[in-house]
Amino acid sequence: MRRKVIAGNWKMNMLPNEAMEFIEKLAPQVKDTDNEVILCVPYIDLFYSLLNVQETNIKIGAQNMHFKESGAYTGEVSGKMLKSIGVEYVIIGHSERRQYFAETDETVNKKIKAAFENGLKPIVCVGETLEQREEGKTKEIITKQTELALEGLTPEQVQNTIIAYEPIWAIGTGKTATAEDANNSIKSIRDKICQIYGQKIANGVIIQYGGSVKGENAKELFEMSDIDGGLVGGASLKPDEFAKIVNYDK
Ligand code: 13P
Repeated sequence: MRRKVIAGNWKMNMLPNEAMEFIEKLAPQVKDTDNEVILCVPYIDLFYSLLNVQETNIKIGAQNMHFKESGAYTGEVSGKMLKSIGVEYVIIGHSERRQYFAETDETVNKKIKAAFENGLKPIVCVGETLEQREEGKTKEIITKQTELALEGLTPEQVQNTIIAYEPIWAIGTGKTATAEDANNSIKSIRDKICQIYGQKIANGVIIQYGGSVKGENAKELFEMSDIDGGLVGGASLKPDEFAKIVNYDK
C-alpha cells in the first residue's frame, strides 16, 4: 500500500513569525495521522519552520532550488544549502515556475538529479493548460513531462520521486478536476512509468493531485485508487483547513 502524502505549498506567503505560529497551531491537530505531512515554505521561513517542527511529525520542504551546488548565480539557493539546514523535500517544476521563471523540462530534470545528489526528496509537478486540455492533449502532455523529468534517473530514484499532477486550470481557480478525471490522469502517468521502469516501481511511486484541494473535497479525491494525497496551495495557509485535509480519513 502506498502511503498518502499531503504537502502544503505556501508559495510567496507567510512571514517567519506567521510560519512559526502556523506550525504551533497545526502540530497538535495532525500528530495522530498516518499520512506524511509536509510544508513547503518560502526560503526565508525554512530555518524558523525547521526549529518549530522539531518533535512533531511535520516535514519541511522548499519550493525550488538551483541545480548547481554553488557559484555565481545571484539570488539562487542550491540543494546542498537546503540540505545543510535539514530540509527534506523540494518542489521542482511547479507550473508557476515553468510559466513565470522559464523553468523547462530540461532544468526540471537537472534539478531532480541535483536534489537526489544532495539527499533531498523531490516533489515534481506536471500538468496541462486549459487550452491543451480542450485540444484533448492532457495525457500526451503530462506523460511527456513525466518522462522528461525522470530521464536518466536510477530506478531507485524514480521510486523515491513524488509526482504532483496539477492541472494548471485548477490551480487557485476553485475549479477542481473531478475525482475520476484526476484519477484517470494520474493513472496515465503511472502507466507511463510502468512502461519505462516496470510494474513494481510504478506501483510504488507516490502521485499526488493538486489544484483547489480543500477540506471538503479532499476525501473524495484521496480515496481514489491512484491518488496518493495532494499538493495544496491556498487551503494550506490556514492551519485548521490544512489539518482537515491531512485528517481526511479520520
Ligand atoms: P491551489 O490549491 O491554491 O489551487 O494551488 C495548488 C498548487 O499550485 C499547489 O502547488
